[in-house]
Amino acid sequence: MSFIAEIIGWYENNKRDLPWRKTTDPYVIWLSEIILQQTRVDQGMPYFNRFAERFPTVADFAEAQEDEILKLWQGLGYYSRGRNMHKTAQMVMEEYGGYFPKRYDELVKLKGIGEYTAAAISSFSANEAKAVVDGNVFRVLARYFGIEEPINSSKAKKIFTDLANEVIDKMQPGLSNQALMEFGSLQCRPKNPHCETCPLKLSCEALKKGLINQLPVKLKKLQVKNRYFNYLICTKGDKVLFNKRGPNDIWENLHEFPLIETDTPVDSIDLVNSEKFQSFFGKRSALTGQYGPVRHLLSHQKLHVNYLFIEDFEEHFKDQNNWFYADIGSIEQFAVSKIIFSFLNKFPTLRRS
Ligand code: ADE
Repeated sequence: MSFIAEIIGWYENNKRDLPWRKTTDPYVIWLSEIILQQTRVDQGMPYFNRFAERFPTVADFAEAQEDEILKLWQGLGYYSRGRNMHKTAQMVMEEYGGYFPKRYDELVKLKGIGEYTAAAISSFSANEAKAVVDGNVFRVLARYFGIEEPINSSKAKKIFTDLANEVIDKMQPGLSNQALMEFGSLQCRPKNPHCETCPLKLSCEALKKGLINQLPVKLKKLQVKNRYFNYLICTKGDKVLFNKRGPNDIWENLHEFPLIETDTPVDSIDLVNSEKFQSFFGKRSALTGQYGPVRHLLSHQKLHVNYLFIEDFEEHFKDQNNWFYADIGSIEQFAVSKIIFSFLNKFPTLRRS
């Protein structure tokens, strides 16, 4: 038996009794799919029932007060989705004479309906042979076919959608899609899948290779760290105070202005009054201008950079290891980071005004 025939056979024996599976009304299926994008089946069910009862047709939904829709939506989060649904229903009334589209190509034109939702509605309501590819489908395909491509890579969507469209049962695409999703949700679960009772256990690549817990591969989104840089542009005549960065951080050995990094954004007054500033410069240094904040994104860091000008700087800073005076006219010769380079282009004389 083929892969999909096994899955459909499994589905017939194991499927849950879910209310949206008893209809081919594209409007009702749309309601269920949008709700299920927000929450799990068990939590979505009462929402679906309330919506379907209060608004049995798309006309009822379109005519509702937005407040009532938002009230029913309450708890699902992401309220713009509820609001967008209202607009979609009104668009169906105006542009489709109240007939909710069933064809994939028409569905994807509606607000808030992407490829996944269009495939679900068109296959469940009109048996259009469009494969749905949700998280469940990614997982089942990745495991069964042993696909190691990370599911959130740029290539993944096409690879998995093409494969899902190859394996779909073209005689009964709606059933085929429901079955694959249900199989992923109940049998081929993310954690502790039921491999011992799985009808596909003899041909599953991940099981053969011991990769069930490794597949699907998902690239970790790297946490972006916010950093707040306050550069002090201390000029005296034709000289400026400069610094050479040390090791163990970004921009090793590149040049820049004296830097005070803070854990949070600070305004210039607070900075001048801070212990760190005063330990560097004493109490007499006065700011003569400010520029920023400029944001600069590195691969794992987001920099929020402020430039504070201290013109006519009096030389009473405490020695810092790598600080030195440079001729303003010669600072081009120093290797600097991109943000300092941009700053120097913008303020070649290092004066704010
Ligand atoms: N999750 C998203 N759509 C679903 C559906 N039609 N049945 C079960 N779970 C789902």
